[in-house]
Amino acid sequence: MTPSSQGSGAPAPCALLVVGIGELATPRGDGPLGGAALGRVDRARGQAVACDGDRILAVGPEPELRARFAANEVLDASGGLVIPGLVDAHTHPVFLGTREGEFEQRIAGRSYVEIAAAGGGIRSSLRGVRGADEAALVAALLPRLDRFLALGTTTIEAKTGYGLTVADELKGLDVIAKADRHHAVDLVATCLGGHDVPPEFEGRASDWVEVVAKELWPAAASKATFADVFTESHVFGLDDSRRLMESARDVGLELRMHVDQLTALGGAQLAAELGARSADHLEHVTPEGIRALAERGVQPVLCPLVPLYLGESQEAPARAMVDAGLAPALSTDFNPGSCYCMSLFEVMSWGALRYGFSADEALTAATLNAAASLGLGSDRGSIEPGKRADLVITDLTSAAHLTYELGRSPVRAVVKDGRVAWRG
Ligand code: NIG
Ligand code: FE
Repeated sequence: MTPSSQGSGAPAPCALLVVGIGELATPRGDGPLGGAALGRVDRARGQAVACDGDRILAVGPEPELRARFAANEVLDASGGLVIPGLVDAHTHPVFLGTREGEFEQRIAGRSYVEIAAAGGGIRSSLRGVRGADEAALVAALLPRLDRFLALGTTTIEAKTGYGLTVADELKGLDVIAKADRHHAVDLVATCLGGHDVPPEFEGRASDWVEVVAKELWPAAASKATFADVFTESHVFGLDDSRRLMESARDVGLELRMHVDQLTALGGAQLAAELGARSADHLEHVTPEGIRALAERGVQPVLCPLVPLYLGESQEAPARAMVDAGLAPALSTDFNPGSCYCMSLFEVMSWGALRYGFSADEALTAATLNAAASLGLGSDRGSIEPGKRADLVITDLTSAAHLTYELGRSPVRAVVKDGRVAWRG
């Protein structure tokens, strides 16, 4: 008997049956969903989800699934909302030490670029990573993954970028691989060799660009899925960024890019020209930049907490992007400098408050669209048979509460790869 067969006969075995679901809310398909489809979320009551191995076997009315399956374990959602495991498509979690002093300076009026020019910012995190061995960095990363999981995030894109020597960047990628093996949360590795100009290369950014192009990317290609660059006039301009990204593509790395975050440099147009998987930040993107992204189907990865955190007034024009048909992801940009927050629930709320996203739009952006931006849309990001069994059980009564409530985690339990990986 196959698990999908119905009617008479003995119930099929399955590892986990999630019952007692109030509302089940999920986007559908492989995504990414752009334009009007961004808000196309299925909401249904009285559903159950059967899981086996790391996959979703069936989704349907609870009485039907109870009859069809004999489950080893039954998880009662106690009437709560169930959504897909959240996917954070932009994080910088490999670092040692925090930078709360810079936060205080910004509150007192100094800008992110001023602090960076005075030796703070990304460079202050370099000291921690360069001085630490792999074990120390893994030990710092694992508790962060615990927190991501407790907040309902089951997959993160994880960037290096605080090493900025060839050896320290490769060490960062090894840290990500080790943490991925040892933790339920899945990590997708990005080598951010273009995060900043290392102090040793001060005034010679193009020399570092050549080191990255000729030495780092070839060595990173077997350890990372993506390469990334901070395209900004005080870091890597358009020519250096193009050289970095073309050389990464040449060795088989896919591209994500930090663009138009602090100024309208035209990074979005470059990301489109290069066929990047994602163009991230985009607070200062121009209408031409939006058009270029739309023409090439590049996904925006939006980080609404970052301008808030940096004291910058300019928001990403998210609604204009959606109106142009783009399929945004929402992410934390978790890092020690410009956003020390791991909660995608918080980010969804700010997506509503700052961009005018509906709860359904925010949910798609933090699940299926984020997964699609990582090339994983056919594997995860929605609750459908055949997809990876990553689910968040909340204590919310409906998806409308996803963006409505601030400052408290609604997560009751998290299912990762078909197993209950976290319980509140
Ligand atoms: O995404 N834009 C550059 N990188 C990070 C900030 C990193 C840091 O300040 O440590 C970002 O905002
Ligand atoms: Fe970032």
